[in-house]
Amino acid sequence: MDFEYTQEQLAVREAARDFATTQLLPRVIERDIAATFPKELILQMGEMGFLGMMSSPEYGGGGMDTISYVLAMEEISKIDASAAVIMSVNNSLVCWGLEKYGNDQQKQQYLKPLASGKSLGAFALSEPEAGSDATSQKTTATDMGDHYLLNGTKNWITNGNTADIYLVIAQTDSTKGHHGISVFIVEKGWPGFEIGKKEDKMGIRASDTHSLMFSDVKIPKENRIGDLGFGFKFAMETLNGGRIGIAAQALGLASGAFERSLQYARERYTFGKPISEHQAIQFKLADMDMEIEIARLICMKAAKTKDMGKDYSKLSAMAKLYASKVAMETTTEAVQIHGGYGYVREYHVERMMRDAKITQIYEGTSEIQKIVISRSILR
Ligand code: CAA
Repeated sequence: MDFEYTQEQLAVREAARDFATTQLLPRVIERDIAATFPKELILQMGEMGFLGMMSSPEYGGGGMDTISYVLAMEEISKIDASAAVIMSVNNSLVCWGLEKYGNDQQKQQYLKPLASGKSLGAFALSEPEAGSDATSQKTTATDMGDHYLLNGTKNWITNGNTADIYLVIAQTDSTKGHHGISVFIVEKGWPGFEIGKKEDKMGIRASDTHSLMFSDVKIPKENRIGDLGFGFKFAMETLNGGRIGIAAQALGLASGAFERSLQYARERYTFGKPISEHQAIQFKLADMDMEIEIARLICMKAAKTKDMGKDYSKLSAMAKLYASKVAMETTTEAVQIHGGYGYVREYHVERMMRDAKITQIYEGTSEIQKIVISRSILR
């Protein structure tokens, strides 16, 4: 077992750390309050290569491994978890699926701009009545001979309004259960495609989350990815990798909150000494550091297993389940260590605690991860 990162992986981590501290940190609190993320920053992330990290250079991506992706996600998430989810969805839910299952024409037309950061993508699986129960899709794509007609509503879509290209999961044959679900590439602006209301969220407020409405949207036949009925499998396979991205986001929230707590504990004095010299605080820091180390190990094992081409579905579910728990606990303890200062925006940790909660919910709740893990064990 090799616990050393390569020079390339360390360089990626350094670049992400530098970008996060110089470009993302300065206005992160303002973006959280305003619930906006400027397009220019997304373009900058694209120029830095953060939006198509694992995509092949042939299609404008960085050709990097999943370990590098986890390292970059951790660094970005330490500073701005909203930027991190924008990045994660584009990398693992959109570019990865397109590259793995799209045909060459689809890759030339859609993956190239997405992987090079010229366009942004969104992944539309969830619906008002199909969140955890993802096979209960109500959105339909009806075969009209030379095209499909898309009708329905999607909910809680990350990059909902900022995206240009959407991977939309829809029923093509409701008599076939999940084998009657297909996946399509849909462009923003097509007639009948409306962006619905923006959600006013507890955390990751700067990333935009919207509902999407489709009313007789004409999709060219060539925009279906893979075979008819492949859509659910596509979504599950894609989410296996997505969960590594969210695990890395959770890891970054935890390690970012820990770093802030450590610094604060050294600087803040009570009863005549830095609070880092009180055992109550020392024990908290010890627990936080240990839990983060365990979360990092499982994230990296999931990433390495994916890079080795082995089945990583159970490990990615474990990584997300564990890292999101650690993120929630660590950010909560970080607020506690900061006391009253932790409860105000200026010290960042209250935002991180709000941001951490979503990592236990999206891309499969913690309860869904336990279903994935237990089914894998019992299979
Ligand atoms: N990897 C690969 N295939 C999988 C899979 C996985 N992790 N999980 C299920 N499948 C396959 C099964 O093998 C089965 O295929 P076959 O019939 O061909 O063998 C098929 O999918 C159906 O599986 P189940 O019979 O187990 O279906 P189910 O309805 O009982 O439960 C579930 C499936 C695991 C609970 C699934 O519905 C699920 O993962 N739900 C959560 C959905 C989710 O994560 N949503 C997140 C939304 S996206 C998002 O949040 C993005 C964002 O914007 C940030």
